[in-house]
Amino acid sequence: MKKIGVALLGCGVVGQAVYRALAGQSASIAARCGAVFEVKKIAVRNPKKKRDGIPAHLFTKSIAEAVAAPGVDIVVELMGGEEAAHKALLAAIRGKKHVVTANKLLLAKRGEEIFAEAVKAGVDIGFEASVAGAVPVIRTLKEAVASGKVNSLFGIINGTSNYILTNMMEKGVRFADALEEAQALGYAEADPTFDVEGIDAAHKLTILASLAFGTPVSLRNVYVEGISRLAPDDFRFARQFGRVIKLLATARMDGGKLDVRVHPAMVNVNRPIARVDGVTNAVELDVSDAGRLMLIGPGAGGDATASAVVADLADIARDMLSNSVGRIGPQGFLPQKRKKLAFKPIGDVSGGYYLRFTVDDKPGVLARMAGILGANGISIDSVIQKGRSGDPVPLVILTHEAKEKNIQTAIRKINQLPSTRAKTMLIRLENGG
Ligand code: NAP
Ligand code: HSE
Repeated sequence: MKKIGVALLGCGVVGQAVYRALAGQSASIAARCGAVFEVKKIAVRNPKKKRDGIPAHLFTKSIAEAVAAPGVDIVVELMGGEEAAHKALLAAIRGKKHVVTANKLLLAKRGEEIFAEAVKAGVDIGFEASVAGAVPVIRTLKEAVASGKVNSLFGIINGTSNYILTNMMEKGVRFADALEEAQALGYAEADPTFDVEGIDAAHKLTILASLAFGTPVSLRNVYVEGISRLAPDDFRFARQFGRVIKLLATARMDGGKLDVRVHPAMVNVNRPIARVDGVTNAVELDVSDAGRLMLIGPGAGGDATASAVVADLADIARDMLSNSVGRIGPQGFLPQKRKKLAFKPIGDVSGGYYLRFTVDDKPGVLARMAGILGANGISIDSVIQKGRSGDPVPLVILTHEAKEKNIQTAIRKINQLPSTRAKTMLIRLENGG
């Protein structure tokens, strides 16, 4: 049986789960790919930290030592962050080692360079674990939809925020408590504002959109809003409208431009995506010939993420054993066949909106607001005002389809009215398919 040497860079939530999988499931992994993986060295910040079941002699503080350790064929980067991980991956690639990474931040920011370096060096790069945990969405985009054109992709790609939203919506758990639980379960990023402010989902969406549409996508092109401004009232009103709130990531072609965004959205409870709860992720692809595909599964956590890392290791082993390294390029499309698509600014998109105003409960207030909405070409679908419970009161309006630019103008004007007491909350309605 072929032996393949691995260096792990990072041995935290995911790194330890990868080690456990390689050590504990080596027979079943070998039965699938024809190779046994041997961990030769593990780089960590603190080699003295207790990590059960992993021999102490494997640890080093030196990333360079781990990358260059004798017998290492594949370097697996599970440290996170940008600079050290970037340097380590380039050193590994230039040293002709195959690489695997779960680092979506790094790929979102510097993926184009890293992928080009891997192609130039003739090594494989696996990054299935960078998006949606155990769910094989990268593989699907690179390999399974070869004949079709992706029209849109849409989904929940941050487990922590979905865990928080589900617990707030269904159990009335406070935001801070739900976040603390997600952190304890190993779902959150080292800086959890990445999860709750939509940044982690935006990192992942740049990776997915780039693969799906065959174009470079930069973080600048992604409109991003997180879940931290949502209030208990928004969950209550969503329920009254037969909807739930989800942090959705979407990328779709619209009038020849790519519309790429991450933001909370109110989704009808009958939509399959509305029932994707907890740490579960789901990605729905609309492909010209295949139709709608939905991939769903655990989106974060050590074991789930390790399963994607090990799948990449197995793929690289197969390529090594069959002398077919580089068979599937890192970006799905041939580099020379990728395009530079234009992006749609958020102001130009259209949709329905939930607007929660905080206003004085006085005659004429609603009329003035309706006047401003009307003057901006916004038609009202429904209104809820629960008055007389104290001043100010929430006043909620659902709109028919309107242009985002007009909605923003109207909100700005309404926020300036003396009867408006707090910044208006806007949540987009997801009404599609
Ligand atoms: P983690 O628990 O914080 O582990 C990070 C590991 O990297 C630790 O072992 C740390 O060493 C080591 N490390 C960090 N900086 C280092 C440096 N400069 N030099 C050497 N070692 C360094 O993080 P994680 O949750 O396993 O996540 C790792 C990566 O996977 C991140 O890119 C993350 O975004 C991604 N990811 C995580 C999940 C998840 O569910 N957790 C899912 C998908 C992707 P010490 O232990 O000594 O501090
Ligand atoms: N923090 C990320 C999440 C980890 O919650 O989805 C998985 O990428």
